[in-house]
Amino acid sequence: TVQDAPASHSRSLHDKDRIFTNLYGHHGADLKSAMKYGDWYKTKEMLLKSHDWLIGEIKASGLRGRGGAGFPSGMKWSFMNFKGWENDTKPRYLVVNADEGEPGTCKDREIMRKDPHKLIEGCLVAGRMMNTTAAYIYIRGEFYHEATVLQRAIQEAYQAGFLGKNACGSGFDYDIYLHRGMGAYVCGEETSLIESLEGKPGKPRLKPPFPAAVGLFGCPSTVANVETIAVAPTIIRRGPNWFNQFGRERNSGTKLFCISGHVNNPVTVEESMSIPLRELIDKHAGGVKGGWDNLKAVIPGGSSTPILPKKICDDQLMDFDGLKDNQSGLGTAAVIVMDQSTDVVRAISRLSKFYHHESCGQCTPCREGSKWTEQIMHRFEKGQAREREIDMMQELTKQVEGHTICALGEAFAWPIQGLIRHFRPELEERIRGHAQREGGEAMAGGW
Ligand code: NAI
Ligand code: SF4
Repeated sequence: TVQDAPASHSRSLHDKDRIFTNLYGHHGADLKSAMKYGDWYKTKEMLLKSHDWLIGEIKASGLRGRGGAGFPSGMKWSFMNFKGWENDTKPRYLVVNADEGEPGTCKDREIMRKDPHKLIEGCLVAGRMMNTTAAYIYIRGEFYHEATVLQRAIQEAYQAGFLGKNACGSGFDYDIYLHRGMGAYVCGEETSLIESLEGKPGKPRLKPPFPAAVGLFGCPSTVANVETIAVAPTIIRRGPNWFNQFGRERNSGTKLFCISGHVNNPVTVEESMSIPLRELIDKHAGGVKGGWDNLKAVIPGGSSTPILPKKICDDQLMDFDGLKDNQSGLGTAAVIVMDQSTDVVRAISRLSKFYHHESCGQCTPCREGSKWTEQIMHRFEKGQAREREIDMMQELTKQVEGHTICALGEAFAWPIQGLIRHFRPELEERIRGHAQREGGEAMAGGW
C-alpha cells in the first residue's frame, strides 16, 4: 500500500537532535569526553525521582523496544513494579541484550565501541526505574573490542563514583557486570540469554512466565536491548515531548538505522522514526548503486523481516506500523539493499541455511522445519524444485509460525513467505527454465 506522509514527521534530524553524539568516533569514548558532550549530566537528580514518575516519562515518550520486537518500553518496565512485590526479598535485575546477531544489524556495536557511557548511564537510570540493584550486560562473544571498550568505561564510572556504593551520591548502590557470550545467535533471545548467563546451554524457555516474573536466577528481571537502554537518560533529560516530536504516533523518537548492501555509502545513522525509506537511503547512504531505478528489493529490518520489492519501497515509511502494513517489520532497522543484479532466491536461500544452523533444536517445527526449508530453498535456488513445491513451502512455513518456543521459527518462516509473496514469478521462471534445460539436454543426449 502507498503510505501517507507522517503527520508529525515534520523534519529530518539535525545534529543537535541526535542522542548518539559520537557514532562516528569524532571524540573519545572516555568519561571526560562523554561528560563534555552531555552524558552523566544531572544523573543524581534523575535517580532521586520516583519509579512511577520515571516510568511515566518513558511511557509518555512512546519509546518502543529497539531490539526488534518493538514492545512499548514504559509498559514492559512497569511490569517490574507490581504492587505487592515491594516487600519481595528477591533482588531484581536489569539484563542488557548486547548479543546483536541479527544479520545486517550493526547498531549496538557502534554504541558500545564509540558511545559506551550512554549505555552505562542508561543501565543506572533505567535500572533504578525498575528498582533493580544490578545490571548484567550480555555481550556477543565476537565483540572483543567492544567488550574491552565497555569494560574500560565501566571501570571509569566506578572510579568516578557513578557506580557502586552510593552511585552518583544518590544513596543507592548499583553494579554493572559485563558477560561475554559464545557466539550463538539464539542467545539473543531473552530467555535463552538468561539461561546462558546462568551458565546453562542457551536454549529458550517457554513464556509465560515472562522474565519480569521469573528472570535471571529466578528473580524478577527485564531484558532490554542496548539502544533502548542507552536512550533512556536523554529522554528523561530532554523530556518525553522532545522524543515523541519525531516520527508518527505509536512510532515515536529517533532510531539507529544500519544501511548495507548495494548502496554507495553503507552507514549506521540516527534518524527520525518514520522517515521514508528512499530519503533514508539517498540522504545517508549515498543512494542505491546505479540510482533508485536500479533497486530490486530491500530487507527492511534485519534478516528475519520479509523482503519488499521496489514498488513497495518507493513509498515505504520506516516505522513499526508502516512496515507491518506491508507485511514486513521494522525489526532491528537493519536495511539490506539489493539492486537489480541480486539473485533474491539465492539470498533468501542463504538465510535459510543460517537459521537452520542456528536452531537450538529443542522444538520439532523449528528443528525439522529449518532443515527442510534449507534443503528446499537450495533446490529452488538451482531451479530443481517442482512448481507445486512453492505452495508446499508456503504451507510448511505457516505450520511453523506460532508453533515454536521462540521467535526463531518465525524468523526463518517469514522471509520465505515474503519471497513467495513478491517474487513468485521469479521462482516459477527459474523452475521452468531448469526444466527446459534438462529437457533440452535429454533430447540432445537422445540425438
Ligand atoms: P516478543 O514480542 O516475544 O517480546 C518482546 C518483549 O516484550 C520481551 O522482552 C517480552 O518479555 C516482553 N513481553 C511481551 N509480552 C509480554 C507480556 N504479556 N508480559 C510481560 N512481558 C511481555 O519478542 P522477542 O522474542 O523478544 O523478540 C523478537 C524480535 O527480536 C524479532 O522480531 C527480531 O526482529 C528481533 N531479533 C533481534 C536480534 C538482534 O540482534 N537484535 C536477533 C534476533 C531477533
Ligand atoms: Fe530452539 Fe528453534 Fe525452538 Fe527457538 S524455535 S526454541 S531456536 S528449536
